[in-house]
Amino acid sequence: MLNTAEILNALANRQKNFSLGRDLYCDEGVFHADLENLWYREWVFAIPSCDIPKTGNHATLQIGAYPVVIVRGGDGQIRAFHNVCRHRGQRLCPKQNGSSPKLVCPYHQWTYDLDGKLLFARDMGPDFDPSKFSLKPVHCRTEGGMVFICLADDPPDFEHLGSYLRDYVGASDLSNAKVAFTSTIVEKGNWKLVIENNRECYHCGGSHPSLCRTYSDNPLMTVMEGPNAASPEILSHWDRCDKAGLPARFVNDPGMQWRFARVPLLNNAESFTMSTKAAVNRRMGTIPWSDAGSLMFYHFPSSWNHFLPDHAIVFRLLPISPTETEVTSKWLVHKDAVEGVDYDLQKLTEVWLATNDEDRRVVEENQKGILSPAYEPGPYSPSQEEGVIHFVDWYVRQMLDRLSPSPAMAAE
Ligand code: FES
Ligand SMILES: [Fe+2]
Repeated sequence: MLNTAEILNALANRQKNFSLGRDLYCDEGVFHADLENLWYREWVFAIPSCDIPKTGNHATLQIGAYPVVIVRGGDGQIRAFHNVCRHRGQRLCPKQNGSSPKLVCPYHQWTYDLDGKLLFARDMGPDFDPSKFSLKPVHCRTEGGMVFICLADDPPDFEHLGSYLRDYVGASDLSNAKVAFTSTIVEKGNWKLVIENNRECYHCGGSHPSLCRTYSDNPLMTVMEGPNAASPEILSHWDRCDKAGLPARFVNDPGMQWRFARVPLLNNAESFTMSTKAAVNRRMGTIPWSDAGSLMFYHFPSSWNHFLPDHAIVFRLLPISPTETEVTSKWLVHKDAVEGVDYDLQKLTEVWLATNDEDRRVVEENQKGILSPAYEPGPYSPSQEEGVIHFVDWYVRQMLDRLSPSPAMAAE
């Protein structure tokens, strides 16, 4: 297990534009450093707000050592709390999703209001002051119907990302959406391998026969490497969207932590379906055409997403261990769309269920190869894997920045 100095050394000596060294993908010390320096400090995409549409609905997730519960209050506000009872520490809400008018601890029934206040604790004596035992809050922001949480005491800026979520994802009006289906899988691979695999389509032709019916594996068609490389088809799609007031142009965080871009699908396909036609009869939000393509939004370290005219798919990854990552996908449709009438669940989900499983297989094989002492970092394709380079550079920069001793400490 590497110590901090050894991790710093591995990061500082990595070869630019090459995959990372073996330890960075499987060492226990690196995994803990990733949690401490990224997962516990960055904004993490948690759920779409329509996952908890009503007062008392809640959803849980586990970020490293921290169980978190996200709750819709009586005032409609979405709040997040450490999912840990203030009595003797029981995990308060054990299920992935639930609903109750109050949060009641299953152990001794301490009862909390939906805003985290302790309302009731039996037989605690006359001196007990419940106001001292509210649930501990977690920073929580909802913009464009996407709920982000941050475990840090002092979270990084959210406003820049938030303004684009409002604008770009706002066009899909997730407040009038519902979750049609949720899939949770565990991939036996390091979380960075899961993101790296997502950030390129070099592997798509060989791995994703159903996705490739509608999604181009040409990086120029999916603006993987930035707006300056967009193809003429993309530029004319953006002009068309501009005229209709639909946010589409590539925008990104200067450090490449996130990016939005709306791209057309292949051959005027409408959706990620085997037929290439829309899977849902009702369009979402204010998207004006069925061939508006996919608004692609990714955010490091936890998410990538597709917002299509007829549905959206939001993806969340969470690290479980050095070589295990949970991937949760949610398919969203207009809240009034009726299963069996307006959409067929199998046709809606089959392409990405297959794609997720195909990605799971390549990530697991990638991890197996990297576990070999014979593995050594190999070069990324400059034309196909620019998106992976962006991720790896972001990761190394953040980790070096946070792990490096401050000048004051170094002088001591
Ligand atoms: S631990 Fe929750 S009520 Fe006792
Ligand atoms: Fe893939």
